[in-house]
Parts: sequence; structure tokens; C-alpha cells
Amino acid sequence: MNNFDYVTRPTDLDPDCLPQHVAVIMDGNGRWAKRQGFPRIAGHRQGARTLKDLVRCCKDWGIPTLTAYAFSTENWRRPLEEVDFLLVLFERLLRQELAEMDREGVRISFIGDLSPLPSSLRKEIDRAVLATANNRAVHFNVAVNYGSRAELTQACRQIAEQVQLGNIEPGAVDEQLIEQYLYTAGTPDPDLLIRSSGELRLSNYLLWQLAYTEFYFTDVFWPDFDRAVFHEALQHYQMRDRRFGTVKLKQPCAG
Ligand code: IPE
Ligand code: IPE
Ligand code: MG
Repeated sequence: MNNFDYVTRPTDLDPDCLPQHVAVIMDGNGRWAKRQGFPRIAGHRQGARTLKDLVRCCKDWGIPTLTAYAFSTENWRRPLEEVDFLLVLFERLLRQELAEMDREGVRISFIGDLSPLPSSLRKEIDRAVLATANNRAVHFNVAVNYGSRAELTQACRQIAEQVQLGNIEPGAVDEQLIEQYLYTAGTPDPDLLIRSSGELRLSNYLLWQLAYTEFYFTDVFWPDFDRAVFHEALQHYQMRDRRFGTVKLKQPCAG
């Protein structure tokens, strides 16, 4: 890890062309641990350290929003001990790291269905969200018990209820309205999605929000994802030509 060299934003990155929102699928904790002969949970512990530094890095480099996939609606299918470990880890991290993150100006928010989570974890979540609501240095959004299909389903259900009550005309259901019913309401769509560990899939992550996002996949396992790898992802991002369906508008950032 050579994060010392990366305290400030690397000079080859164009500050006017940074993603305003980066979404990450933090994958490969288990394989990282296995490779070192450790139990899978050791990978999750190390992965949490990686995430903490990435939040700080986004702040240091001027990337305003980071959304991290911490637990999917499908991850309940894992062995009970692993699920329990993850839930306890989230709770402990919130308790231990809240004061420091707050001091650093991090605004913490969550997306996903939080209702099935243990009440002690929900309490820490509420505390963290409330305590940091006015912070502005960086927005750190955590996806817990998140699934894109569940998100879209609950949005449809809520909109249907409003239509049935006569509060919304069916003809008024448009893209802007649907966005208001997503967990991500009010947050701009990600500009860059990064998935670690070599898997080339979305695993039910932000299906609506990623419609025009640039994707970057790296073979690096999440616990080894450091500022150098993030730098590489941003270099690739700055070379992309984002057209949004139109013809080429401008040179890619680093082009
Ligand atoms: C990602 O790492 C962390 C979570 C899904 C919580 P994994 O636990 O999926 O690690 P691999 O994919 O088994 O290596
Ligand atoms: C996606 O990783 C979910 C998180 C990173 C929290 P998984 O490891 O659960 O995804 P699959 O099962 O390989 O698709
Ligand atoms: Mg995985």
C-alpha cells in the first residue's frame, strides 16, 4: 500500500472531469482471505479498512459522493455465521468510526430495506444518519439489504397506492416521479461503477441508476483495493467518451 503518495489528488487527473458519484461493488473479501489461509471473516474485516480509506480518498480528491454495496438482498443466503458476523461488524464499525467520520465532515446515509436488520444495528444507523446529516465534505451512502429489484418493486407499490387514492394520475407517472420513490431519491446517478475481484456482473445493484454509468472492472480483491487502483479506475474514466445517445460532443477528458 503506497497511500502516502496519494494523499492529494494525482496531478494527471483533470479536476474538472472527476466523477461526481462513484458506486462500488466491494467483492472478493472471501477469496482474499482464502488466498492467505484465513477464514472468510478476516477478509470482511480487512475490506472494511479498505472502505474507510476510500471514503477519505473521495474527500481528499474531491469526489462528492460514494455509494458502497455492503450487503445485498441475496446475501442472506450465506451461512448464518457469516451473515451474523457481517451484521455485528457493521454495527461495531458505526459505533467506533462515527465520531471520526463526523469530524471529517462525512455525511452518512443508507439505501436498502433496513426493516429486517437487528434493532441494535438500526439504532446505530439512525444515530449515524442523524448525527452527520449536515456534513458536507463527502456523502457516503451504504447499500445494506439492498436489491435493485426490491427497490423498484417497493416504488411501484407505493406509486400504485397513490394512484388508487387518487393522489396521482396514471399519466403523471414518469421517470422523474419514479426516481422520487427510489431509495436514492435526491442523489444524482453514479458516473462511475467499480467492481473488484474480476466478476463481470451487477448482482442486483442500482439497475435503474446505472443506465448511463461508466463501468470499470478490476481483478484486485476488495481488501487490496487501494488508492493506486482507484487512481487507475479514474484514469480510465477520464478517457471515456460519454455520449448519452447523441453524437460525439467533446474530446474525452484526458484525450
Ligand atoms: C464481498 O466479498 C463482501 C460481501 C458480499 C458482503 P465476498 O464475501 O462476496 O467475497 P468472495 O466473492 O466470496 O470472494
Ligand atoms: C455483491 O457481491 C454484493 C456485495 C458486494 C455486497 P456478491 O459476492 O454477493 O455477488 P455474487 O453472488 O457473486 O453475484
Ligand atoms: Mg462475492
